[in-house]
Amino acid sequence: MDYLISILIILLAIFVIKLVLIWVIFYADVRAAQKRDPAAKSFLEVILLYPGLHALIYHRIAHFFYRLKLFFLARALSQIARFFTGIEIHPGAIIGKRFFIDHGLGVVIGETAIVGDDVLLYQGATLGGTGIVQGKRHPTVGNNVVIGAGAKVLGNIVIGDNAYIGANAVVIKDVPPNSTVIGVPGRITKQDGKKMDISLDHARILDPIMQAIEELQDRVKNLEKK
Ligand SMILES: CC(C)(COP(=O)(O)OP(=O)(O)OC[C@H]1O[C@@H](n2cnc3c(N)ncnc32)[C@H](O)[C@@H]1OP(=O)(O)O)[C@@H](O)C(=O)NCCC(=O)NCCS
Repeated sequence: MDYLISILIILLAIFVIKLVLIWVIFYADVRAAQKRDPAAKSFLEVILLYPGLHALIYHRIAHFFYRLKLFFLARALSQIARFFTGIEIHPGAIIGKRFFIDHGLGVVIGETAIVGDDVLLYQGATLGGTGIVQGKRHPTVGNNVVIGAGAKVLGNIVIGDNAYIGANAVVIKDVPPNSTVIGVPGRITKQDGKKMDISLDHARILDPIMQAIEELQDRVKNLEKK
């Protein structure tokens, strides 16, 4: 009986030490999860029950081994995380501070993806490649970006700071900062707080004068019809 009690005490001690370590080492990530999810009630709930946080902790450790070129060990950790959380983050991906994956299931982040600080991903979001290309082939995501549920962001593209990728959007071209993108293929519906509707085409995004001229042409056409 004493033997059993000793084992239980040791297990409890390991559990408490693990909690404290997570709390101390991953404090910023835990706080981010708590801030980003209005449903999160307590620190303990986030640490114990949030698959997004668990996947991130596994990833931080896996990425450490990846940088030491211990690729097998890194990949093994990433697969364990995938088994338990349904979130697959390649150990090579570079993830910024205060990253949070809400709900989590089905999130995939590729090897050469780079994610900035304060980024939020919802379930089913993919930062993937477009085919079998070597080298940098996954997106670079800026700071403070939100990527909606089921959105697919593909290829070596750049998502600007503060961008909002709507649920189920498919994005294969660069997204300027402060924009909202929805649909398949993704199109910008808001930029710098102003509503608009333009396809993700670099020339048009970077040329607001052209856009204004096109709007005027449309108005002239309508007036001529009248
Ligand atoms: C895109 C998004 C950011 C909305 O941005 P918004 O600027 O507030 O846009 P609005 O709600 O004013 O909608 C603007 C238009 O886009 C449409 N729209 C909004 N989200 C859309 C989406 N994901 N796909 C397609 N159309 C969308 C709206 O119907 C509306 O169309 P309308 O102008 O013809 O009426 C948001 O709808 C979204 O997709 N967020 C992702 C959040 C998420 O994944 N949550 C999962 C939680 S589990």
